[in-house]
Amino acid sequence: MGALPWLLLLLLLRAAEGYSGDDVDAEEVVGVLQESISLPVEIPADEEVENIIWSSSASLAVVIPGREGQPTKIVLTNPRYQRRVSLVGPDYSLCISNLSWEDSGLYYAQVNLRTSQASSMQRYSLRVYRRLSEPHVSVNFEMAAEESCNLSLACSVEEAGQDVTYSWISRDNCRDTVHEGSALSTSWRPGDSVPSYTCRATNPVSTIYSQPIPARSFCTDPHFPEETSTYSCLLAKGLLLLLLFAILGAGLWCVRAQRGCQTPRTRKLERNRLRLRRKEQPSPSLA
Ligand SMILES: *[C@@H]1O[C@H](CO)[C@@H](O)[C@H](O)[C@H]1NC(C)=O
Ligand SMILES: *[C@@H]1O[C@H](CO)[C@@H](O)[C@H](O)[C@H]1NC(C)=O
Repeated sequence: MGALPWLLLLLLLRAAEGYSGDDVDAEEVVGVLQESISLPVEIPADEEVENIIWSSSASLAVVIPGREGQPTKIVLTNPRYQRRVSLVGPDYSLCISNLSWEDSGLYYAQVNLRTSQASSMQRYSLRVYRRLSEPHVSVNFEMAAEESCNLSLACSVEEAGQDVTYSWISRDNCRDTVHEGSALSTSWRPGDSVPSYTCRATNPVSTIYSQPIPARSFCTDPHFPEETSTYSCLLAKGLLLLLLFAILGAGLWCVRAQRGCQTPRTRKLERNRLRLRRKEQPSPSLA
């Protein structure tokens, strides 16, 4: 336990050194939320280990290899890792299980060697990610001029976390084209070949695809390219306009009729208001 204050001092010095190059040689380790990760330790050949002092932002554990057939001991120095650390392999690699977001950060292994009395510091930069769930795709489409169809697609993953990249893969005649980004806009006219679109979401621990979006089925009923459908669409628009005019006409008539019977009442109201105002007028002169 006498090593711990020294270790803290070392860590403080390390923090004071800043980030300029100090952590460049930290080994990048990527872990999955609620899964486990192992931090490998490099031990020179024909060297015996006295102990390994593990720490992150606080102390973590001390590993003491057993002598003469005794089992290796781990002394946990941080209750946050209770029942979550173990050793793997003959090189005392540290395994941390059930990773949480808080486990992200820098880890240090101070390896104290017995044979040469030397010690080395090994650094790790642990990042924890969630395995991505299937992307959600939202589709917006509208008929543009000249019967062309404008389609915009947006892709997202729930609770995606950091370092997620999105791309759209369009497949047309067995040829894939990749468009970077979570949003994609496209348009086509009747008769154009329309690819299918698949969203791909990637983070350092997973890659996941959406279902292919059958783009052709948007913008239209199944008869989109046919003349008849545009004709019936025009007819529907005409009818709608006619209905609008009818409603407008009826509304105007209604308003006019109502105004006819409301006139006396509004006049009476106005008269009452006038009377009120006259009653109020003397009060300012009293003041
Ligand atoms: C893993 O950790 C979470 C809290 O971070 C806890 O709720 C859960 O029970 C743990 N699972 C196991 C298998 O230990
Ligand atoms: C449809 O997309 C084209 C280009 O792709 C654009 O010029 C046009 O303004 C869009 N029309 C509508 C109604 O959004």
